[in-house]
Amino acid sequence: MGNLWTGRFEKGLDAFAAEYGTAIGYYKGLYPSDIRGSIAHVTMLAEQGIVTEQEKNKIVEGLNVIREKLDSGEITFTYKDEDVHMGVEGALIEMLGEAGKKLHTARSRNDQVAVDTRLYVKDAAAEITAGLNYLENVLLDKAEKYADMIMPGFTHMQHAQPVTVGFHLMAYFQMFRRDIERLQSALTRVDCCPLGACALAGTTLPIDRHRTAELLGFGAVTENAMDSVSDRDYMIEVISAASVSMMHISRLAEEIVWWNSQEFSYVVIDDSFCTGSSIMPQKKNPDLAELLRGKVGRVYGDLIQLLTVMKGTPLAYNKDFQEDKDALFDAVDTWSASLQLFSKMIEQTEFDGENMKKNLSRGFLNATDIAEHLVTMNIPFREAHEIVGKMVKTCEKCQKDFGDLTDEELSEIDSRLSRASLPDLSMEGCVSRRTSYGGTAPSEVRRQIGAGRRWLEEQIG
Ligand code: ARG
Repeated sequence: MGNLWTGRFEKGLDAFAAEYGTAIGYYKGLYPSDIRGSIAHVTMLAEQGIVTEQEKNKIVEGLNVIREKLDSGEITFTYKDEDVHMGVEGALIEMLGEAGKKLHTARSRNDQVAVDTRLYVKDAAAEITAGLNYLENVLLDKAEKYADMIMPGFTHMQHAQPVTVGFHLMAYFQMFRRDIERLQSALTRVDCCPLGACALAGTTLPIDRHRTAELLGFGAVTENAMDSVSDRDYMIEVISAASVSMMHISRLAEEIVWWNSQEFSYVVIDDSFCTGSSIMPQKKNPDLAELLRGKVGRVYGDLIQLLTVMKGTPLAYNKDFQEDKDALFDAVDTWSASLQLFSKMIEQTEFDGENMKKNLSRGFLNATDIAEHLVTMNIPFREAHEIVGKMVKTCEKCQKDFGDLTDEELSEIDSRLSRASLPDLSMEGCVSRRTSYGGTAPSEVRRQIGAGRRWLEEQIG
C-alpha cells in the first residue's frame, strides 16, 4: 500500500528519505494496541452516527482479520508503509475499499500514536509489575532462609557493624517495593485516553471521547487536545522508574559479583548462571551478574535519549517524537528481561555463613556495642565513643581483640572500665540486641519479612 496522503504532492517521497523517516521497525510491538484503538474508535463513531452500523461491522471484522494475519506473519509491513498506523489502515482499505476509508474519521496519527503507546505501556507495566512481585517473593524467601546468618555490614566498604544476610536482602526488598510503587504512580498518569484529540485541536464532528476511553479500559480522558498529542512525559516517567529499578538491580548484582570473588566467597552462584573462560580452565565467572550490573547503562541512555528528544520541541506534534519508541521499547524490554533473569539467579544463589564468620573477627564490628553499653553505665555517648576509640588504638597496637584486653589495660583507658563492664561481644549478641524498629536483629528481620509478605499478598490480590 502506498502513502495515504499523496493528494497535494507532485511526486513521491525520495526512497532514502522514506527509509530514513520510517517508524515501521516498531510495528510488531504496536499493532496490537493500534488495532484495539481503531476498533474502539470505530465503535464510538458508529454509536455517534458518524459511520453506519454496517460500516463499523465491516471495519471491525477487517481489523480482526488483519490482526490475525499480522500475528501469523501473512502480512508484514515495510518502510513504504511509513508507520504502523498507515500500515494497518492501508491494509484495511486494500481489503474493504470504501468502508475502510472511513476509519480515519475524527482522528489523526498524532492521537493514535499517543493512545497506542499508552496502551503498550499499560500492558508492559502489568508484565513488569509481575516481574517485580516475583523478585520480591524470591528476596523474602531468601531473607527468611538466612534471617540468622551473620555477615559484616559495611559503610565506606569498611567493616561497620554485624548484620544478617536476611536483613541485607530485606533492604533490597524495600527498594524494589518502591520501584513497584513508582511504576504504579506513573501509571495513574499513563491511564488517560488521548484518542479523539485528533491532530492537535479536537474535531468538529460529534465524537464521544469518554466512550472511546471506556471501551479501551482507560480510567480517564486527557483534558486538552494539544497536550494529548504533544507530550511524552508519561513515557519519561516510566523509563525513569525503569532507570531507578535497574540501578537497584545493578547494586545487588555488584554485591553478588564481589561476594562471589575469592576474596569473599560469601556466595555460591549456581553453575547455570556462570560462564567459563576460553583460556583459563579453572574460571567460573559471574558473567550474568556483571551483565545485569551493566544493563542499567542502556536504560539510563534511553531516559536521556527521550528527555533530549523532547527538550525544546514546540507544541504540538513534531516528528522528533517518533524517536520515543526506540527508547521506550528498549527500556521496557531490558527491565522486564533483567527482572526475570535476576530473580532466577538469586533463587539459585546460596550464602556461605562459614566464610562470612572468618571475616567477622576483623574490623572491630562490635565497637559500637561497647559504646552503647557504656551509655547504659551513664557515660555520655560522645565520651563513650572516645573511650572505645582508645580501646581500638590499644588493640591495634598489641594486635588484640576487645575481649583480650586485660583489666589493667582497660582501667588505664578509663577508670570505669573493666572486663566485667564489657557487654557480650559475640556477633550473635551484637546482632540480636539490635531490636530497634527496622534493625538487624533476627526477630526484627522476621517482623520485616512478615510485613513484606502481607504487603506483597495485597499487591498480588
Ligand atoms: N510515526 C509517527 C510516530 O511514530 C506517528 C505520528 C505521525 N504523525 C505525523 N503527522 N507524521 O510518532
